[in-house]
Amino acid sequence: MSRPLPLLVLILVIAVFFSFTLIIKPVLSAEITIGHAIFNAECASCHVGGGNILIENKTLQTSAMKKYLDNYDTDPIGAIVNQIHNGKGAMPAFKNKLTKEEILEVGLYVFQMAETGW
Ligand code: HEC
Repeated sequence: MSRPLPLLVLILVIAVFFSFTLIIKPVLSAEITIGHAIFNAECASCHVGGGNILIENKTLQTSAMKKYLDNYDTDPIGAIVNQIHNGKGAMPAFKNKLTKEEILEVGLYVFQMAETGW
């Protein structure tokens, strides 16, 4: 009697693998690229390399954002998005300059960069 199950499992594993390399990975890196481009255009003037040229300690490093952004511990992306949307102190609000999607893209980029230490 033939045993089709291992073959089925193999096909499934291959399918999952290819969907990751062919579909999910390019989408992920496209997201990062868009966020990166927005960051360079809108944020790097003050936050080059994840720093802060105006208020030295309020950098985009995880340790600083944990300290200065409300709810960073429970909702880091929400906290970053909120800061970009509304601005704070000397940082301008971007709600009239960037779309909601663009704010999310650049927020995700900041989070990702902070997690990997810029
Ligand atoms: C004109 C300079 C300027 C620009 C442009 C700017 N920021 Fe800021 N940013 C600041 C300043 C100043 C602060 C500190 C605000 C405060 O808490 O008083 C800050 C704080 C932040 C924080 C919180 C960091 C912390 O440790 O408290 C994040 C996140 C952030 N900015 C992201 C961005 C992103 C993303 C952009 C681009 C869409 C951007 N900023 C554009 C000046 C700027």
